[in-house]
Amino acid sequence: MPSIFKDRNKLLPKYIPSKLPHREEQMDTLRSFYEDALRTSQGMMNVQLIGGVGTGKTSTSLSFAREIEETAKNRGLRFKPVYLNLKILGTSKVMLYRALLREAAPEVYSSGLGASEILLQLIEHLSKTKKKILMILDEIGYLVKSGGKDVVYDFTRLNEVLPFKQVSINVVFIARDKQFHRYLDPAELSTLGRNYINFPNYRINEIVDILNYRVSEAFRQGAVSDEVIEYVANITSKPPVNGDIRYALDLLLFSGVLAEREGFERILPEHVRKVYGETHWSISTEELMNLPKNEKVVLLSIARALKNRRTAYVPLSKIREAYNIVCEEYHLKRKREIEEEVQDLCDRGIIDIKSLIKIGVNVETKKLVNFLENLINRLKKEI
Ligand SMILES: Nc1ncnc2c1ncn2[C@@H]1O[C@H](COP(=O)(O)OP(=O)(O)OP(=O)(O)O)[C@@H](O)[C@H]1O
Ligand SMILES: [Mg+2]
Repeated sequence: MPSIFKDRNKLLPKYIPSKLPHREEQMDTLRSFYEDALRTSQGMMNVQLIGGVGTGKTSTSLSFAREIEETAKNRGLRFKPVYLNLKILGTSKVMLYRALLREAAPEVYSSGLGASEILLQLIEHLSKTKKKILMILDEIGYLVKSGGKDVVYDFTRLNEVLPFKQVSINVVFIARDKQFHRYLDPAELSTLGRNYINFPNYRINEIVDILNYRVSEAFRQGAVSDEVIEYVANITSKPPVNGDIRYALDLLLFSGVLAEREGFERILPEHVRKVYGETHWSISTEELMNLPKNEKVVLLSIARALKNRRTAYVPLSKIREAYNIVCEEYHLKRKREIEEEVQDLCDRGIIDIKSLIKIGVNVETKKLVNFLENLINRLKKEI
C-alpha cells in the first residue's frame, strides 16, 4: 500500500518552507527596513515582529535571514544572520552572549570570556572583517519578563560601545505582543525603536491557501481531500486555536499517521475528528520538547499532583511531594527548591499561578501526564 505521506518531515516545526503565502507584505516591509543596512557600513536597524502563536513570525524572520545573506553575497558583502531563541537558551546573560559570539564569529570564540569581553571581541571582529550581522532575538517578551531586560539595552547599543569602530549590527526582535514594553524603562524603550511589523492571525481563506501548499509538499497527491483541508482550516480559524498554523500542521500529521495505521490510503474527516478530540493542546509539542530538563521534571510533578487530586489547582506543597516521588522514580538528582522552575513555567504561559496554594496547568492533565512520562522516559535514556 502506498504511504499517505510523501515527506512527513516537511510538517515538523524545524522545517522552513520556501514560500510563506500571506506573509509577502511582512517580507516586503522587512526588505525595506534593512535596505539601508545593506548599503551602509555602519549603523543599526531594529525591528520588532509582533503577533500571536503560529502566525509565522519565526519562519518569516528565518526566511528573510536566508534571503538577506544571499543578497549581500551577490553584492560582494558579508551579512551574517544569527538566530537566538531566548526561551531555549535561558536567561543567563553570559550564556546568551557566548551563543551570540559562537554563531556570529566562531573564529574568535573562546569559552572563557566574560559578558563585556564577548561584546568587545565581537565588535573588534566585525570591524576588522567588515562583516555585518543580523541578530534575530526570538521570544524577547519571555526574556524581558523573566528578568533579562538589560540584554535589550546592551544589544541595541552595541554600536556605541566602541564608537570609532565601523560596525553594522542589526536586530529583529520577536514577541507575541507588546506587553513586555511595560517592563522596560524609557531609555531601553527608546533604543528598542518604533519599527513594528504586525503578524495578524490568519483568516480562514488564508489558512486554506497555506494548508494546500504545505499538504502538497508533505502528502502524496490525493491523500488529503479539499473537504479535509477545509475541515482542518475551520477548526484552526476558530478559538481556541485562532489561526495557529503549527496546530493545523500537527493535526494533519497525526491524522495522517492514524489513517495509515488504520490501513487507509487517504485521510478521512473521521480521522481528523478523532485526533482533534484527543489532542486538544494549548501547549505545542515543540514548546514542551524545548523546556529545560528541570522544568520538564517539575511540570511532570505538577501534572501528577493535579491528576492525583482531580482538581484544577494544587498547592505548592503537593507539587513538592510529587516532585520528590518523580525524582526517586527516575533516579534524578533532587533540587532543594523548585520555585524557580515553577515561576519559569508560569512565565512561559504553561501553568497558571493564582497563589502559592493555587497552581494549575493550562491543558488537560491526563494527556499532559502521558506526554511528560514519555518525554522523561526518553530523557532518562539520554542521561
Ligand atoms: N504563511 C505560512 N506559510 C506556510 N507555513 C506557515 C506560514 N505561517 C506559518 N507557517 C508554519 O506554521 C508553523 C508556525 O509558524 P512560526 O513558527 O513561524 O510561528 P510563530 O509566529 O513564530 O509562533 P510562536 O509565537 O508560537 O513562536 C511553522 O511550522 C511554519 O512553517
Ligand atoms: Mg516563533
